[in-house]
Parts: sequence; structure tokens; C-alpha cells
Amino acid sequence: MSISHLGFKLARSLLHCMDAEAAHGLTIKTLKTGLAGNANPANPKNLRTSLFGLTFENPLGLAAGFDKNAEVPDAMLAQGFGFVEVGTVTPKPQTGNPKPRLFRLSEDQAVINRMGFNNEGHTAVFARLKKRKPFGIVGVNIGANKDANDRVADYVSGINTFSAVASYFTVNISSPNTPGLRNLQSTEELRPLLQHLNEARGQQKRHVPMLLKIAPDLEPEEMQAIVTCCMNGAVDGIIISNTTISRPSLASKLANETGGLSGAPLFDLSTRCLAQFYLYVEGKIPLVGVGGISNAEQAWIKICAGASLLQLYSGLVYQGPELVQKILQGLSLKLIENKFANLGDAVGSAAERLAHQKPLGK
Ligand code: FNR
Repeated sequence: MSISHLGFKLARSLLHCMDAEAAHGLTIKTLKTGLAGNANPANPKNLRTSLFGLTFENPLGLAAGFDKNAEVPDAMLAQGFGFVEVGTVTPKPQTGNPKPRLFRLSEDQAVINRMGFNNEGHTAVFARLKKRKPFGIVGVNIGANKDANDRVADYVSGINTFSAVASYFTVNISSPNTPGLRNLQSTEELRPLLQHLNEARGQQKRHVPMLLKIAPDLEPEEMQAIVTCCMNGAVDGIIISNTTISRPSLASKLANETGGLSGAPLFDLSTRCLAQFYLYVEGKIPLVGVGGISNAEQAWIKICAGASLLQLYSGLVYQGPELVQKILQGLSLKLIENKFANLGDAVGSAAERLAHQKPLGK
């Protein structure tokens, strides 16, 4: 264990004595100082993968919500992530929901949040991204203000603002903490949204890939309808999934806090949803698997369920950044053990089984 990892272990014990949001704020501040250092990642060659015109040195990304304001994308790339997604960013700054709004459910290795898109808005986030050296893959997750009169216009504004600096876009229509946002997942709303976004993309100097991020709380017919809207190049990829509003059995007394649940209890639900999407897209749209990944075995299950890329957030809360290298080394070994030359060959290899299996097991 390196000194910086030991430091992280100590820091984590201290952080877990603090209120969850204050601890996150301190983590971002520390990362901004550069004290977190560089994990000096050596990416195993068999994890390199190319998708939507981008080459990922490894498939593990930082999920949206950790770095909402693009304060620390480089510090997080330095921890070994193959890509980092900043945001969700809305056109105007907004304060989000009243505090407390972020809860650690330690007994369940889970998090509940009802942050409500607290962020500094397009102008501030764009300025930060413009200032950094173009290095690594940094996606921008875009959303709509809570009080938007025209939500579609807010997303279009995200495309117009960030096209010069984003490696890819994520269109987040699945946060449970902005009332009505998830309605954008219905065909009637999703089709025109994607049409407007693609018109906006067509007017930019750069072609920036666009992914759609969906909820894990969908019925099979709703998933199929989303896939239909996403076909024929309407999106370049689908991220599965955001947090869940469901409450699988939880031990923590905070279990009934309102908001989206992430971490360990989300793993089964989001992985089954991923496998179902994999079967529906029939290889035509790459998928990003996110939800409850906390070790290499689970990362591997996501790949076998149909993920070409992975993301995590809550695992970091409980295990710190050394989790990134643990997962990458473990994933690389899994490929070798299972005689897959590269990641792409393993994607979806168990989707049929995982789409129906309950529970999945860890
Ligand atoms: C999130 N997530 C999230 N997603 C998103 O698209 N935009 C956002 O602003 C946020 N904000 C956010 C805040 C907090 C505190 C958490 C814990 C999560 C969801 C996140 O990106 C991811 O989809 C889920 O957390 C599931 O992954 P994990 O955390 O189980 O690895």
C-alpha cells in the first residue's frame, strides 16, 4: 500500500465521522490542492477499448455527481479512471434541495441522495473546462433547471455551450430529484428531445458523441420504447443506470430517506436492467454499466451483462480511490482467465442469463 493510499485510509475514517456532504466538499477541496497525487496507473493492455470515436485506456469511468462543477477532472483521471464525467450541469446555477440531502447508509454500503442538481451552471463550468489542458476523456453530463419553462431548450443549451470542450455528452433524463424529469423517458417526450439535440449537434464545429442516461426503475415495455427512440444514430450510447427510487431490503435506519439509492443494493437491479437493454439493442448501441460496482467481480459481471464501459461513484465513498486499480487489475485477469483477448469479446457474453436471474450474486 502506497503512502498516499494509507493517507486515504486514515482520511476516510475521518471523513466518515463528518456529515456526508461536508465530507464530500472536503474531498473535492483536497483533490483541488493536488495532494491526492497520482496513482501512476499502468493500464493493462487488454483493457484498452475504442468506442464512439474515442480511445479509452481502460473502461472504468467516474460517474456523474462526484464532480458536478468540473473542479477535479484531472485529479480523478490521475487516480486511474479511464474517463471522468462531470455534472450534471444546468444552464443557470442552482442551489438544489435543502440540506441534509446526502446520506451514507454504511450498513448497506449504500448512499441516498436528493441533491437536486446543485451546481454552478454552464458559464462557470465551461470556464473551468476551457482552462484545462485537453487531456484524457472528460464527458459533460447535462440537465435542466428545476424551474425551466422549456426543459428541451435547457438540454440544447448544454450542447451549444459545451461542444467545444466535452469529450462526450450525457443527457441525464433520469435523476429522481428534479420533479417530472424522468417523464422525459417516455416516447412522447424522448423522441422530440433527441431530435432537437441532434439538430443542435449538427450545427457544431466538432462532432461530440452523445449518450443517454436512464433510470433502473423501468418496465420492460418502457425499456423497449427507449431503445426504439435511440436507434438509427439518435444516440451513441446508453448509460444504465442512475440511482433507484426503489428500496430493496436495507438495514440502515436512513433507508426511508427520500431520494435516489446507489451503491451495493443497486447492483442487482441495475445489472439486470443493463442485460435487458443489451438484448433489446441487439449490438447496435454500446452500453455503459453503472450501479453498485465495488469490486472486480462485479465489474466483470457488468461486462458480461452487456457493458462496453463502466462507471462508479458510491464504491469510492466506502473504499477510496485504490478501488480503481483493484478493479482494473482484477478485470484484466478475468479476461485472461476466461480466454478473451480483449474486453469487446466479453461484452454481453452472459446477458441472456443475467437478464432473468434473481438474485445475481456477487
Ligand atoms: C449521483 N448520480 C448522478 N447522476 C447524474 O447523472 N447526475 C448527477 O448529478 C448525479 N448526482 C449524484 C450525486 C450523488 C451523491 C450520487 C451518489 C449519485 C448517480 C451516479 O452517477 C450513478 O449513476 C449512481 O450513483 C449509481 O452508481 P454507484 O454510485 O452505485 O456506483
